[in-house]
Amino acid sequence: MDFSRVESGIPGLDKLLGGGIIEDSVILVTGETGTGKTILCSQFLWHGLKKGETCIFITLEEDPEDIKEDVRAFKWDLAKYEKKGLFRIIYHDPAQVNNLGSMIIDEIKNLKAKRLVIDSTSLIGLNMQEVSQIRKLLFNTINVIKKNKCTALITSEIPEGMRGLSKFGVEEFVVDGIIVLNYLEYAAGGLDRSLIIRKMRRTDHGKDIYPIEITSKGIVVKPVE
Ligand SMILES: Nc1ncnc2c1ncn2[C@@H]1O[C@H](COP(=O)(O)OP(=O)(O)OP(=O)(O)O)[C@@H](O)[C@H]1O
Ligand SMILES: [Mg+2]
Repeated sequence: MDFSRVESGIPGLDKLLGGGIIEDSVILVTGETGTGKTILCSQFLWHGLKKGETCIFITLEEDPEDIKEDVRAFKWDLAKYEKKGLFRIIYHDPAQVNNLGSMIIDEIKNLKAKRLVIDSTSLIGLNMQEVSQIRKLLFNTINVIKKNKCTALITSEIPEGMRGLSKFGVEEFVVDGIIVLNYLEYAAGGLDRSLIIRKMRRTDHGKDIYPIEITSKGIVVKPVE
């Protein structure tokens, strides 16, 4: 069976994903700090905006103004689309996650949003005692996104030097796909970034470790010689 797929906006990535991200699916973008999660998510939304799709960025961590300012380096003028009412960037207090689902429903409906980002889900569980509670909340949130016909990237942080795919060890199970961002540091000062598609339901995806670069135009998957 063929699925409708949306373009990720990351040059070189869609061909590793069987043509793109399956419409109305939710993908986890995970990695240690500074690996490019927020940039990748912003690039995904920027690509949608340029195609005329309405988009929402929910941040539980960084200030919305800082995010908009940071991505100006890539010439992504999110504020322009925000003024036109085609883009919303919302700070959501991580201490108030119980109303996250209803907020998402309202926002998606108001904007008729096609793309959504939640950055970062690692903040969602901060006030929860039980991992089962976190899993339930994430599961409900993801279902809300899908039912409202939105394609989403959500981020999670892998604590420095830890094995595993996410902060709480449950995020990976409730999503449709996982993209892991890595970097290796070399003594000579070199920095090698890479990307792994760790899971992508219903997709014969690329299985290698793919070198990536953060350029003046954002993240690109480097062609392998
Ligand atoms: N204009 C740029 N050109 C090249 N590289 C950049 C540029 N801006 C940021 N970077 C790189 O991207 C990194 C930050 O990326 P990003 O904020 O997406 O990471 P993150 O995984 O979201 O990190 P965090 O843990 O802070 O959420 C910086 O540490 C820097 O190495
Ligand atoms: Mg970030």
